[in-house]
Amino acid sequence: MSLSQNQSFAKVSVSLNGSIAVITIANPPVNALSHAVRQGLLTCLNEAQKNAEVKAIVICCSGRTFIAGADISEFGQPPMLPHLPDVLAQLDQSSKPIVAALFGTVLGGGFEVALSCHYRVALPGTQLGLPEVNLGLIPGAGGTQLLPRLAGLDVALQMITSGKPQSAKSLFECGVIDLLAPEDYLIACAINFAKQVVEEGKELPRVSQMVVHAHGPKGDVSDDLFDLWRKKLAKKARGQTAPQYAIDCIENAVLLPFDQGKKRERELFILCRDSLQSSAMRHAFFAERRAGKLSSAHDQTKNMALQSINEVAVIGAGTMGGGIAMCFANAGLPVLLLETNQDNLARGLDGIRQRFEQAVNRGLINTQQLEHRMSLIQGTCEYQNLANADLVVEAAFETMAVKQQIFAKLDQVCKTDAILATNTSYLDINEIAKSTSRPHKVLGMHFFAPANIMKLLEVVCAKGTDEQTLKTVMALGKVLGKISVAVNVCYGFVGNRMYACYGREANMLLLEGASPHQIDTAMTSFGMAMGPLAVNDMSGIDIAYKARQENPPTHPDPLYFRAADLMVEAGRLGQKTSAGFYDYDTATKTPKTSEAGLAMFAKEALALGVTQRDITKEEIQNRLVFALINEGARLLSEGIATKASDIDAIWLNGYGFPRYLGGPMCCADQIGLAEVVDGIKAYQKGANGLYWQVAPLLEQLLVGGGMLSQQ
Ligand code: COA
Repeated sequence: MSLSQNQSFAKVSVSLNGSIAVITIANPPVNALSHAVRQGLLTCLNEAQKNAEVKAIVICCSGRTFIAGADISEFGQPPMLPHLPDVLAQLDQSSKPIVAALFGTVLGGGFEVALSCHYRVALPGTQLGLPEVNLGLIPGAGGTQLLPRLAGLDVALQMITSGKPQSAKSLFECGVIDLLAPEDYLIACAINFAKQVVEEGKELPRVSQMVVHAHGPKGDVSDDLFDLWRKKLAKKARGQTAPQYAIDCIENAVLLPFDQGKKRERELFILCRDSLQSSAMRHAFFAERRAGKLSSAHDQTKNMALQSINEVAVIGAGTMGGGIAMCFANAGLPVLLLETNQDNLARGLDGIRQRFEQAVNRGLINTQQLEHRMSLIQGTCEYQNLANADLVVEAAFETMAVKQQIFAKLDQVCKTDAILATNTSYLDINEIAKSTSRPHKVLGMHFFAPANIMKLLEVVCAKGTDEQTLKTVMALGKVLGKISVAVNVCYGFVGNRMYACYGREANMLLLEGASPHQIDTAMTSFGMAMGPLAVNDMSGIDIAYKARQENPPTHPDPLYFRAADLMVEAGRLGQKTSAGFYDYDTATKTPKTSEAGLAMFAKEALALGVTQRDITKEEIQNRLVFALINEGARLLSEGIATKASDIDAIWLNGYGFPRYLGGPMCCADQIGLAEVVDGIKAYQKGANGLYWQVAPLLEQLLVGGGMLSQQ
């Protein structure tokens, strides 16, 4: 068959440019290596191999990127031939030179394709990486054997265990990339490179046949290198199996011949692929992407034009307001920061500068970027100066009266179509909206502290919020680099309402005899980034106390958050007073058990008729996690959250829920809904029994079948 005419194999085609066969993959949006692509690539390769006219092959992609990895949506399905390792073996063993033309994000299987070719030509901005650990996986088509051989152990260990990509420029320096092509000339350069290789007729460099070196071509492998990495990752990627397997595989690249190392890698890859951790992390990947898409209830007009947001104002230059202003400046948007007086404003702007300086010290930005971002943030004490703002985000005191006053003022001075957002964590946004003449332009933008770092943004749709306002803010969230999740109004919205149930159980367990340390270590060993009481001490126990005062529970319960209230009433507000649930060393902020605190809990338990007892780690974990699951199910039934995966995206990005458990909804499915419901029923008999009514959705799913995370 002649290749001079295009031959299409569904998503992969091949054409002839002189003596060079150009294989092009077209599988939008990211050219993932689906079954059809693997099949097409193999067929095109075979055709090119058979054709005597073809002297060399270039592999490239159309669209926005070279292959960005295996098709993640196929992982849960039965595997289909050809497997990627078999396709890559054909590349490696080809007698005709193969050049990969790289651009965009060359990730996972895409990078393994590139590493299996004989040469790599790339645009300088290309990002290349093996991000499998982020999905609970290891590379499964030779990545752990190929990268150490080509780039040396240091680069390979760093890239494979972190999952972080590197630029083509830096990989050019360590020999992974053979040529950096100028913008717009990638394919032409790759074809010329291939022709040159043919002319020179040199022996083909096959990565599989290279020897691994510690630091590129000359270094040696130290005896304890891999053990040191294992220890480091046991801390950094606590609870995760894939990074440890990745180290085993990279060590095999030193110890075993290529084929054996690759075989072992595949075995461990399959173990990971079929694991609960990977299934949860893949769920997390899609949950975060689905979060940005509005459900049909929220998305009636598909192609509605969004409002332009060119100028933003933030009310309040405290920690939260300052962090929010930084988010906008980081995204290149000018921000006007409003404070009640010059002193507060100056203090707020100083605080922002200090936080940017910390980012410089950590190498995240340079001083030029710092100055540019500071220049985007201007201060004012005059509401009139907000007249041109397209969006105002209010981050003032968390009291309804203050917020209503501010919104009434904003309504007077701002353009009629300006969006007015509140950063409230708990308050009823419908009530705030009533203080304006434009409730359709009012909504919540609930940032999480520190706002310039945390990825989560709850976009809270009030009763009157119109479609355009919601869509505009959701799109803006993406510009800010946030995971934006649309939720509806209730006390605490999704995240904090669930957190209140989680905190309620932690507080009750203190009265029942568990120590703060016992509760926190139970939850960190479950996988939470921090324990609930350490978090509370860090952020200030008085904050939620004030919120409870402002919004007392409808059915008063003397046990409800009694432990936290005791702390606040004794002036133990957390780290800021060097005493809270723990005592703190003033200089180092190191927590230690507070005997005084324990005595206060014991005394209060006696007074309130709560019997103290020994409490197991399992009970602590189950009570806190089942409380989250049950409340999440209620939020779904009430329509406050529109998808279960939104709840997971919120907990993964705002509350330190372990990614390898996928979020509380996914975790419920993995535990088994029957076990969760049995647990909830058992806790009905405990000291906090009145809160343990099984959410109707859980009962329904248990009877009718179905997964909570798919609701
Ligand atoms: N398999 C299947 N679908 C994928 C995919 C993959 N490997 N990578 C991305 N997609 C899909 C996303 O789900 C999204 O689909 P949607 O538009 O229907 O929501 C679309 O491609 C675009 O992805 P998105 O993440 O929104 O775009 P982006 O430009 O911000 O980022 C990537 C692009 C490739 C950097 C990012 O998607 C990514 O990191 N993908 C995973 C890469 C990976 O882990 N590869 C190794 C797999 S083992």
